[in-house]
Amino acid sequence: MSSDAFAVEHGLDPEKMPRHVAIIMDGNGRWAKKRMLNRVRGHEQGADVVREVVRTCRRLGISVLTLFAFSTENWGRPKAEVGALMHLLRRFLASEEAEMIRTNIRFNTIGQDEMLPREVREAVNLVKDRTCGNDGMTLNLALSYGAREEITRMARQIAEAAAAGRLSPDAVTDAAVEERLYTRGMPDPDILIRTSGEMRISNFLLWQIAYAELFFPPTLWPDFSAAELMGILKAYQRRDRRFGRVN
Ligand code: FPP
Repeated sequence: MSSDAFAVEHGLDPEKMPRHVAIIMDGNGRWAKKRMLNRVRGHEQGADVVREVVRTCRRLGISVLTLFAFSTENWGRPKAEVGALMHLLRRFLASEEAEMIRTNIRFNTIGQDEMLPREVREAVNLVKDRTCGNDGMTLNLALSYGAREEITRMARQIAEAAAAGRLSPDAVTDAAVEERLYTRGMPDPDILIRTSGEMRISNFLLWQIAYAELFFPPTLWPDFSAAELMGILKAYQRRDRRFGRVN
């Protein structure tokens, strides 16, 4: 079934689909706590929801899906939890690679790759290489990602280019900034969703979300679903986006 037909079947207008959806997947720990389970069980359940959401976005013809899987601040969590998250990531890549290839998804990461443990980095690079020619959808996993780090890294690159005489002050434009962000070449998110009812951005895509429509559903991430995502997309299609202008 075409993505337009799939969208229509779910009550969505194919003409008004977002190009880029970004999600802060929050609430795994609280989901586990409510059930008196270890936090890691929450992350495991959360990984199943990642699968469902990736599949749904692909079927809807969304061009870019960015998921906040691990922040620069998350390195400060207990060693066992960090280890479990890294293990889950490798398991996710191993189990999803074939489907990403079959469904034409390009896998990409944003963030400090060099901070990841070697086995994770290798697994990430392998799937990136094997899917680099795909153009159905880009799945961006934000791993060891922090927007301030991304912005200071960009500023450093601009300063280096200026100091070397390769960039004049006039050439420091929005485009020059965007070229130096991890999301280079991608459209800005049209929608940012944060689950679990927390209403914070937590250092995610600070430059890119300038005009994103924000959604804060109370659902904990492991309880999130394709159906709830469709509901958010419907609400998004009803919003009046003016980008600072008048209609
Ligand atoms: C936030 O919940 C979630 C994370 C820090 C990690 C997100 C990871 C996953 C959804 C699973 C693994 C991902 C992939 C791509 C396989 P929290 O732990 O901060 O929850 P809390 O605020 O309720 O404690």
